Amino acid sequence: MRKRIVAGNWKMNKTLDEGLALATEVVNIVNDEVNDDVMAILCTPFVHLSQVAKIVSGSEKVFLAAQNVSEHASGAYTGEVSVDMLKSIDVTHVILGHSERREYYHETNAQLAAKVDIVLAGNLNPIFCCGESLEVRESGNHAAFVTNQLEESLFHLSSAEMLNVVIAYEPIWAIGTGVTASSDQAQEMHKTIRSFLASKYGQSVADDITILYGGSAKPSNAPELFSKPDVDGGLIGGASLKARDFVDILKSY
Ligand code: PGA
Repeated sequence: MRKRIVAGNWKMNKTLDEGLALATEVVNIVNDEVNDDVMAILCTPFVHLSQVAKIVSGSEKVFLAAQNVSEHASGAYTGEVSVDMLKSIDVTHVILGHSERREYYHETNAQLAAKVDIVLAGNLNPIFCCGESLEVRESGNHAAFVTNQLEESLFHLSSAEMLNVVIAYEPIWAIGTGVTASSDQAQEMHKTIRSFLASKYGQSVADDITILYGGSAKPSNAPELFSKPDVDGGLIGGASLKARDFVDILKSY
């Protein structure tokens, strides 16, 4: 049975004090109000992780993710953060290949394949992002574009490794724009992704992989998105910066 996950991607927002206050509020409300069958993940800036780790350690429902990691194990890589560093502070997940990293920092499918490998080798779980631009969507090539991202960064993995990957489908035209994909558009792509996984790994592995939707998800549209059979939760940007909104999205199941 695949997990339902709602992950909050804080991006480059919140000072340390603000972040600790937000994490504390989220953990308190989640512990009181959210079912055990939905996993919450806070994806904070690197600076906040070690202190937020202490806050989430008091909860069995809230986990911690980094927003990126180096593809190298250690050494002379100024400004980078390693998998071992993340493991040493109880991070469990790492966002990889967010469209902002692909676009602004030129991360490629090949580089992301290396990041996926080092994250899995460290027994952490990648939250692997894929998704097409508006231009690609309008050309009608979105399914081929997204399946190619998966093929080039993930399809070298074994089935056992693949089962530790969470996929986040995030159409770039919906990220931070207020334009959400309709629940039918999300379902269509999630189904395409799951079928593509099944073609490589078999249906039972594909059925066990969590596929999140990301892009202007909020409390008002999450119930409709999450009602779709292949949408297993969300990767939430803007709406994760308010504890109440984030928890209301978690409660949309
Ligand atoms: P958004 O961001 O919810 O603000 O659109 C989603 C994301 O980039 O993960």
